[in-house]
Amino acid sequence: MINEKLRDFYELYERRKSIREFEDRPVELDKLSRLLMTLNRAQSAANRQPWHFIVIEKKDRAKVNELFTKEGFRNAPIIIAACADPSQAWVRKTDGINYAWVDVSIAVTEMIGAATAEGLGTCWIASLDPVKMKEALGIPDNIELVALIAIGYPREELVKEKKMRKSLGEIIHYGKW
Ligand SMILES: Cc1cc2nc3c(=O)[nH]c(=O)nc-3n(C[C@H](O)[C@H](O)[C@H](O)COP(=O)(O)O)c2cc1C
Repeated sequence: MINEKLRDFYELYERRKSIREFEDRPVELDKLSRLLMTLNRAQSAANRQPWHFIVIEKKDRAKVNELFTKEGFRNAPIIIAACADPSQAWVRKTDGINYAWVDVSIAVTEMIGAATAEGLGTCWIASLDPVKMKEALGIPDNIELVALIAIGYPREELVKEKKMRKSLGEIIHYGKW
C-alpha cells in the first residue's frame, strides 16, 4: 500500500495515523510539489491565506533536530514548518477572534490528507519550544509558528485500524447542546 495511491476518501482517513519513524528514503519532488500545491489551494477565511511554510530537508536540520525533546521525527526526510501571519488574517468583528491559526490548521490538514493519498506518513508536532524553534528557522518575530509537520515514507504500513476515539454520543449534539 505504501507505494499505491489511496484515492478513496473514507479509506484514506481510516488509514491515516501519526507516523513518527520514517524510512531512509527521500520524498520524490513531484509528490512534494503536489503537497505544496495542496497547501496553496486550501480554503481560508475571506481568502486571506495568512500563512508561510518552510520546507526543511534532513540535510538542513541539525539545529531543528537538536531541539526535539522526545524520540522520533529526526529521520523524516521532510519537515514543513507551518507559520501564521496574524496581520494578514481575517478578524471576526463581533469578538475580535483572529483566524490565522484556524486557516493554517486547515491548510495543514488538507496537506496531511494529500500526503496520505501519496502513501506518505505524517505527524503534526506541536510539542516544541516556539522561541528556540523560530530562532533556528529564522522566523520573524511577528510570525507565529503553528506546527512542524514531519513527512516521509512510514516505517510501518498504513493499514485500516480502529482508533481509540470518544463515542459519537459524547461529542455530537442535535439541535442544540
Ligand atoms: C494539534 C496537534 C498537535 C500534535 N502534537 C504532537 C506532538 O507534539 N508530538 C507527537 O508525537 N504527536 C503529536 N500529535 C499527534 C497526536 O498525538 C495524534 O494525532 C493523536 O494521538 C491521534 O493519533 P493518530 O494521529 O494516529 O490518529 C499532534 C496532533 C495534533 C492534531
